[in-house]
Amino acid sequence: MSDPNAYGPGVRKYVEEARKLLAKREEALRRAKAWKFDTIAVHGLYTLEESYVRNQGAVIEPLYLSASQSYRDADELEAALAYLVPTWCYTRIANPTTYYLEWALALLEGYRTGAETSCCVTASGMSAIAMAVDPFLVKQKDGEKINFVASCQVYGGTFQQFSLRKGKERGIDVRWVVSPDENEEWTSKIDDDTRFLYMEAPSNPQQSFCDIKALADLAHRWDIPFIIDATCATPALMRPIAHGADIVVHSLTKSVTSGGTAIGGALISRKPITTKVKNDHPLFKESFAEYVKFLPYRDVGPASSPVNAMFALNDLRTVRTRMDVVSRNCQAVADWLSRHPRVYQVDYLGVPNFRYHPLAKRYMSLADSDDGRGGEVNRYGHLMSFRVDGPPANARKVFDNFKMIYRATDLGRIKSVATIPAISTHQQQGEEARRMADVPPQLIRLCVGAEDPADVIADLDQALASL
Ligand SMILES: Cc1ncc(COP(=O)(O)O)c(C=O)c1O
Repeated sequence: MSDPNAYGPGVRKYVEEARKLLAKREEALRRAKAWKFDTIAVHGLYTLEESYVRNQGAVIEPLYLSASQSYRDADELEAALAYLVPTWCYTRIANPTTYYLEWALALLEGYRTGAETSCCVTASGMSAIAMAVDPFLVKQKDGEKINFVASCQVYGGTFQQFSLRKGKERGIDVRWVVSPDENEEWTSKIDDDTRFLYMEAPSNPQQSFCDIKALADLAHRWDIPFIIDATCATPALMRPIAHGADIVVHSLTKSVTSGGTAIGGALISRKPITTKVKNDHPLFKESFAEYVKFLPYRDVGPASSPVNAMFALNDLRTVRTRMDVVSRNCQAVADWLSRHPRVYQVDYLGVPNFRYHPLAKRYMSLADSDDGRGGEVNRYGHLMSFRVDGPPANARKVFDNFKMIYRATDLGRIKSVATIPAISTHQQQGEEARRMADVPPQLIRLCVGAEDPADVIADLDQALASL
């Protein structure tokens, strides 16, 4: 940001005007921070003032399709391009609709965490991951070795991005953790060249989990950030920043936009993050998501379409109540499948004897709920997997017999959707990596929607009866 005093009176006039707007935004921010989760999700930073003064009274945040912003004169243009006044300028750089989504997400992910947060919305979950990790993978001197430590139980696309794009193409050492709930395994893989720790929790599809606080503490002892993909939880069920995480990534495509109408991603960072990577820009450490937005995102171009941002924003308003309903539905389905004679394993965080249940119980609960004992009610999301007895052909037969559940490489939907990860989402990573990540061909991933769970169970029942 430049010094306004270095500019002429015309530019300074716009800076003065912007100061008043920024003061109003600060006030709106203060008000929003005092709200409950649902109120933030519904309103975010779109205030009555924003509506009347800037958006012709529109009750719902307008969809700004314009690729660019026009300025009143050369002074305003100069002030805007010097980042002296709030501006969106060009939709690859920023957009008013996306701005409202970014603020709603920053506030929700930071909700009752005690931390300040910032957010950058991207075109997809994959670009959010790339934007979140790439700034830490810059060589600081010639010949330097770089590594990062990541759970191998991640979405197949993430596995490919890490192993091929970073490992094979860029020579970065990707150190996979096989048992993410074992802190010693993480510890054993870190050294002075490690740039960050990366976890996906709950993981897709295995539902693996970690001790978030312990891993954040471990990362901070090495002066590196802990980055976590919390797509399957959404901020309604888990806010890792409260436990020390530095950066949270989401595929907004999933449960946030459960209507299934948009692809999107987001990275949300605490202010400040922990990192030992040297970067001259003050925002790099102080407000990492804003740094990404102002620089790498501007230069690389993974901006969200405002149409997609609008769909995400609309669905986000009801994320808490929706995650409550679909989590309860999924629990009912998982309990039923756990008793089915043709199912040899159910992977769901809400099942008490599931390996990762105790950890998830510590970290996953419905925001603003009341368990009657001064705590929140545990909810575990709507993604689960079940493994069908016998050869892989059996799983395929059950899958092929669904009459209502959709067969698609998709999750997070308001409608129940299933896939066989070994032949779809995790096909590319090959058999050896699938074995390491525990994705056998007998495993059917099921994301339970908002239908009546009895109807989902009836569909599963008739499909399993085909064996
Ligand atoms: C946990 C997780 N993270 C990231 C992604 C990638 O998101 P997108 O498809 O929006 O790029 C996915 C996609 O399935 C996912 O399941």
